[in-house]
Amino acid sequence: MKKTKFYITTPIYYVNGAPHLGHAYTSTAADVLARWHRLEGDDVFFLTGTDEHGQKVEAAARAAGIEPQEFADRVAADFEDMAKAMNISNDDFIRTTMPRHKAACQAIWKKLQENGFIYLGAYEGWYAVRDEAFYDESETALKPDGSRYAVASGAAVEWVVEPSYFFKLSAFQDKLLEFYEANPGFIAPTAKRNEILSFVRSGLNDLSISRTSFSWGVPVPDDETHVMYVWLDALVNYLTATGYPDETAPRWGYWPASLHLVGKEIIRFHSVYWPAFLMGAGLPLPEKVFSHGWWTVEGEKMSKSLGNFIDVRPLVQEYGLDQIRYFLLREVPFGNDGDFSRDALKRRINSDLANGIGNLAQRTLSFIGKNAGAAVPPKGALQETDEALIAQAVALPEKMRATMDKLAFHEALDEAWRVIRAADGYIDAQAPWSLRKTDTDRMNSVLYTLCAVLRVLGVVLQPFMPETMGKLLDYLALSEDRSLAVLDAPLVEGTALPTPSGLFPRVVEAA
Ligand code: MSP
Repeated sequence: MKKTKFYITTPIYYVNGAPHLGHAYTSTAADVLARWHRLEGDDVFFLTGTDEHGQKVEAAARAAGIEPQEFADRVAADFEDMAKAMNISNDDFIRTTMPRHKAACQAIWKKLQENGFIYLGAYEGWYAVRDEAFYDESETALKPDGSRYAVASGAAVEWVVEPSYFFKLSAFQDKLLEFYEANPGFIAPTAKRNEILSFVRSGLNDLSISRTSFSWGVPVPDDETHVMYVWLDALVNYLTATGYPDETAPRWGYWPASLHLVGKEIIRFHSVYWPAFLMGAGLPLPEKVFSHGWWTVEGEKMSKSLGNFIDVRPLVQEYGLDQIRYFLLREVPFGNDGDFSRDALKRRINSDLANGIGNLAQRTLSFIGKNAGAAVPPKGALQETDEALIAQAVALPEKMRATMDKLAFHEALDEAWRVIRAADGYIDAQAPWSLRKTDTDRMNSVLYTLCAVLRVLGVVLQPFMPETMGKLLDYLALSEDRSLAVLDAPLVEGTALPTPSGLFPRVVEAA
């Protein structure tokens, strides 16, 4: 059977500053989905990378007193390091300064030009370097000190007058609206979709797609006085990775992307400009763009002026990798804004991980190690309550699939925790420690049931907590294949089990 293709992307991160919690969030969410689809047996291609051109990066390099390329090399390496630290399983890491990417940008530019969607003009209007975005005056406002800023983001805008190539975005208004209509799931969540629909309905201006006042970018073909607008350059990365424009490239078949995960502030670029560029180039459109919310830290927006950017790496050192991954996806419904606080993190670790799955696994496995021959116990004759718990666990993958398909990570986890709570109740009621003295056959059936439940939990929770769930599956002596398909085979009674150790240590609460 041909595997279903699943091509998922994160935004590519600007290299003007160091990686922080917000970037780690988008990457972790994408990673969980990529791993989930691999578990389902899909043919996954997972892309992340760095966005290295533009005025903002050039200015940051200048401030650091080094050449933009050297600066980008340093920061991109830091982003790769963060991806490693978060155990992100990307299949490729694209950097927009790579030759393969420049070639893809120039190829799409030529295509758009050939198709009549590019013309030369002059831009006169507002530009926010921080957002790398052009704004209509109606999208800006004045501060009390007389300076102007973009209302949506708060970024300062400056007046720009320069020759520029334009993309005929205005020609795509109706086509985009028809496309949104025909593909209601293209922009999610719904609130974002509505926002974008009203933006497009209100009319689209042609888009400036080149700059002449600086040179840190991909040169426009046949007119090297211009560099491409950084957002055109950046969006094309999703195509570059498939080998575009080389139709014989090994990854060509992955386009169109199944899902672009983006933060809420960049949904317009992905759901208006990007599909219009693709339509203009005659390329198929991605299936879905999902916008997630923003994290504040201890109630405050992360900002340079407050100096409160959180680097996830020290948090991983302090609390553990899977603890952080779990927290990010459990704490806040995906799509909503949320607040990161150490108290909330510690609470989740202790109640859900240490006292939840950690305790269930440890109680079961160390008991088997000490009192049941350190092997998968014989099943014996299962009773109704055993069957009921097993049935609940067996139904879990399907329930999680339904929630994962809508990117409701917190609900997927909640489904798993229902099973954990049921298993906790079961172990208390069955009290294997008492059965040890009175009825070892029954004790074995109870322990077998718990092993069966732990195996399901270990398998389905791998995308969220790959390292720790890998350990749990090692303790259950599960073979190499740890995909959902393995759950169809029965547990092998008598399989020797290694000595387990705790999965999630408790965190001491601050006084
Ligand atoms: N370079 C562009 C994306 C180009 S994609 C073709 C960009 N880069 S970014 O580094 O500024 O942001 C990348 C991602 O990080 C966005 O999805 C953004 O939402 C996310 N986050 C940045 N700060 C964040 C929070 N405080 N909270 C959650 N995510 C946030 O935009």
